[in-house]
Amino acid sequence: MSIRTNYEKWYEGKDYYWGLEPGSFLEELIRLSPPSPDKKVLDIGCGEGKDAVYMAQKGYNVTAFDLTENGIKKCKALAKERNVEINAYVDDINTFEVNEKYDIVYSTGTVQYLFDQNKEGFFEKIDQITNPDAIVYINVFVEKPFLELPPDWDKEEKMWRSGELFTYFGDWKMECIDEIIFEDNSGFVPHFHCMDTIVCRKVDSKI
Ligand SMILES: C[S@@+](CC[C@H](N)C(=O)[O-])C[C@H]1O[C@@H](n2cnc3c(N)ncnc32)[C@H](O)[C@@H]1O
Repeated sequence: MSIRTNYEKWYEGKDYYWGLEPGSFLEELIRLSPPSPDKKVLDIGCGEGKDAVYMAQKGYNVTAFDLTENGIKKCKALAKERNVEINAYVDDINTFEVNEKYDIVYSTGTVQYLFDQNKEGFFEKIDQITNPDAIVYINVFVEKPFLELPPDWDKEEKMWRSGELFTYFGDWKMECIDEIIFEDNSGFVPHFHCMDTIVCRKVDSKI
């Protein structure tokens, strides 16, 4: 089964597979880049849209995509239910193209689906599609020699090297870089993940 098929299946019910609690970083994001209707956000791999819709509720102008039809359907339904506008569509992190520039690029739990050969191009694209002062938030699973591969890890997911994510943002102002190890019970088998997170700002002129 492909990763698309798996996620389509997980998202087909009426319950929200990842719940509806917004991502824990979003309050900090609001502090770093306060919402306004002209502030454009791109959520890459939005799943069923819990974070994208929350950001729209807070007053950002939100675009969001995901590989799955079911995820996007639920994202749109959630936006409708909460009475907010959102531009949500199916697309692939490996090949997506956008014509606009964004003030926030947000991607959680998805960058491990980038193919190795698309990594460089992806980060060049992030640079091209962001406005000065933009904030980028990305997290990615990383491998550690002392951690087993999680039992539900899919062959289409790629573990990154520890610290690798940060190397793509050397010219940006790092607001926060972090690496954590946490326990997870997905698949009902307790295991550990290691995750790197970056929050950075695009500073275009000397300060
Ligand atoms: C762990 S989920 C995270 C979803 C969402 N960001 C959240 O936090 O609720 C990973 C998401 O990546 C999406 N995905 C997998 N491969 C993708 C690809 N090639 N392009 C875009 N999205 C992809 C999946 O459909 C899934 O919704």
